[in-house]
Amino acid sequence: MISFDNVGFRYGVGPEILRDVSVTIEAGSFHFLTGPSGAGKSTLLNLMHLGLRPTRGFLSVLGQDVGTLSRRRAPALRRQIGMVFQDFRLLDHISVFDNVALPLRLDGGREREIRRDVTEILQWVGLGDTLKACPRALSGGEQQRVAIARAVVARPGVLLADEPTGSVDEVIGQRIIRLFEELHRLGTAVVIATHNQGLIDRFPHALLELTEGHLVRQPAGALRR
Ligand SMILES: Nc1ncnc2c1ncn2[C@@H]1O[C@H](COP(=O)(O)OP(=O)(O)OP(=O)(O)O)[C@@H](O)[C@H]1O
Ligand SMILES: [Mg+2]
Repeated sequence: MISFDNVGFRYGVGPEILRDVSVTIEAGSFHFLTGPSGAGKSTLLNLMHLGLRPTRGFLSVLGQDVGTLSRRRAPALRRQIGMVFQDFRLLDHISVFDNVALPLRLDGGREREIRRDVTEILQWVGLGDTLKACPRALSGGEQQRVAIARAVVARPGVLLADEPTGSVDEVIGQRIIRLFEELHRLGTAVVIATHNQGLIDRFPHALLELTEGHLVRQPAGALRR
């Protein structure tokens, strides 16, 4: 699904943040991505989401070589990837409902089905009563759950989530991971960047660990101990 081959990345003329990254995210896999603050987790997810391009090496996303992908074709490819941004990136001038409906409307879905799916996912994340609210009127944890609902509503083939439990309590955090596991059971490849060691210990998934620009893959939880 996503394949890095000796990828390096630097912002402008800054130091190289990612070095010699070679990893494949297979269809239907589930990974936690961890590493200290500033290690490059968000940068790595943004490369996978085509928000950034490698400064060296080879990256392929959903069968497309990112190095030769035209700007015109990138948005359609991107729409196949659900992304929960660390800073949410909700649209403040439209309602919670419309934020979550956006990916379905871009896909040309029917309004009646959109209403059903959006209502269902917002209920699942505990926001069934805030459909008409403006995102700015919600707490940080509520906004985070809207961002999660938007990322999963179209059942993308790939789901990337950047600290998706950073603003919610432990109970809701575990519920969110179970939602991602549900999607994974339906075939989605999932990558979750997190600092939360509790989650990593509790849910037995493979681990991608970033240290000093290098990425190392560890096997699933039970094998790690
Ligand atoms: N737009 C940018 N321009 C220049 N440098 C940047 C930019 N974004 C991030 N960096 C730098 O790249 C490095 C990696 O940042 P990144 O946000 O990917 O780390 P992270 O692992 O996600 O950290 P955190 O756990 O705090 O979210 C940091 O040193 C950061 O200062
Ligand atoms: Mg980050």
